[in-house]
Amino acid sequence: MAIAAAEHRRASEAAVSVRDVGMRFGKVHAVRNASFDLPQGKFLTILGPSGSGKTTLLRMIAGFDAPTSGEIFIGGQPVNAVPPHRRAIGMVFQKLALFPHMTAAENVAFPLKMRRSDARRIPDTVERYLDLVRLGGYGGRRIHELSGGQQQRVAIARALVFEPDLLLLDEPLAALDRKLREEMQLEFRRIQKELGVTTINVTHDQREALVVSDEVIVMDGGVIQQKAAPVSAYRTPANAFVANFIGVTNFIEGHVKTLAGPSVTLDASRGLALPGIAAGEKLRQGGRALGALRAEQIRIAPAATGLDRLDVTVDGSVTDAIFEGERIVYEVAVPALGDMPFRVFDHDPVGHQQFTSGEAVRLGWNARDMHVFNT
Ligand SMILES: Nc1ncnc2c1ncn2[C@@H]1O[C@H](COP(=O)(O)OP(=O)(O)OP(=O)(O)O)[C@@H](O)[C@H]1O
Ligand SMILES: [Mg+2]
Repeated sequence: MAIAAAEHRRASEAAVSVRDVGMRFGKVHAVRNASFDLPQGKFLTILGPSGSGKTTLLRMIAGFDAPTSGEIFIGGQPVNAVPPHRRAIGMVFQKLALFPHMTAAENVAFPLKMRRSDARRIPDTVERYLDLVRLGGYGGRRIHELSGGQQQRVAIARALVFEPDLLLLDEPLAALDRKLREEMQLEFRRIQKELGVTTINVTHDQREALVVSDEVIVMDGGVIQQKAAPVSAYRTPANAFVANFIGVTNFIEGHVKTLAGPSVTLDASRGLALPGIAAGEKLRQGGRALGALRAEQIRIAPAATGLDRLDVTVDGSVTDAIFEGERIVYEVAVPALGDMPFRVFDHDPVGHQQFTSGEAVRLGWNARDMHVFNT
């Protein structure tokens, strides 16, 4: 009984727990007060622009750098004093650091040899992991005889072969072309689900973060801006930074005119009063604010079309129409709402009327789709 209870407690503990962790490099505060828990078996992506502290946070979890404040726990144990090689962590970084003079199989076998695994069982284990990354039969190839994506998969097999408790990925796909990158994202997802290994992935590719993750952390300036499931981070961003970083968002500047529960009226800078909702933050009556509207929430129609079903309509003129295959991106000047053109997606370019530069159009949207944030 006692053992079962202890097992249960261990299983329910977070695989990784980061508590008020900070990192200073002299005057640079690379990470500030980062706190989060990651449950066993989950896939977390840390997303943020260049210099936001993603790699610094990952390096502290890996044990390459000690935090200047706070504490990191892995499997419930404090690890600040544990060196990297004593943490059961598999890693794949942007620079793969495969051994070029060795074969794929020798690369994958390396961590097992380092850990003095039973030599007789190594070839079978290596073959299993090469199969897992869909490189069965490629074990005899040298690294330079493999494509970029195949090399990437050798690196993944090598990171996983010793059954680490935790897998850390720092932009391992950044160097690949788009199509291969998207394939590899799905591969990561498949392998991670198959093995159930707790994973932390770093990227500045928002699509990747949304596709592969159970949870997303968005960072800016060393600070965690939001931790949420991909759908929540996309649909209910916590602040204007997250709204801008994930998805294509139009911002309307103004002041908070009225506040009633989640309903807000934004007094836009050029006099229009726009209904919206307070999504993440506490707003202040009269305070400066930004209305945020996703490009896909805006309808575009010929000038003078009613768009009567929608709460808000404004008139504008097309300044650009960009064909992207599955959609057209319109840029529309709306003088009543400021100088920045609106970006509007049309995902049905075949069935819908198309517009060209200079054409007068009407835009429309619903109040619930305009999220109002502090500036
Ligand atoms: N060893 C270091 N010494 C001094 N400053 C550092 C060091 N490592 C990182 N920094 C600084 O800390 C901040 C965060 O860097 P970090 O590498 O964590 O960013 P990142 O989010 O991984 O960016 P990228 O997307 O470009 O890889 C940056 O301002 C960077 O210049
Ligand atoms: Mg980095």
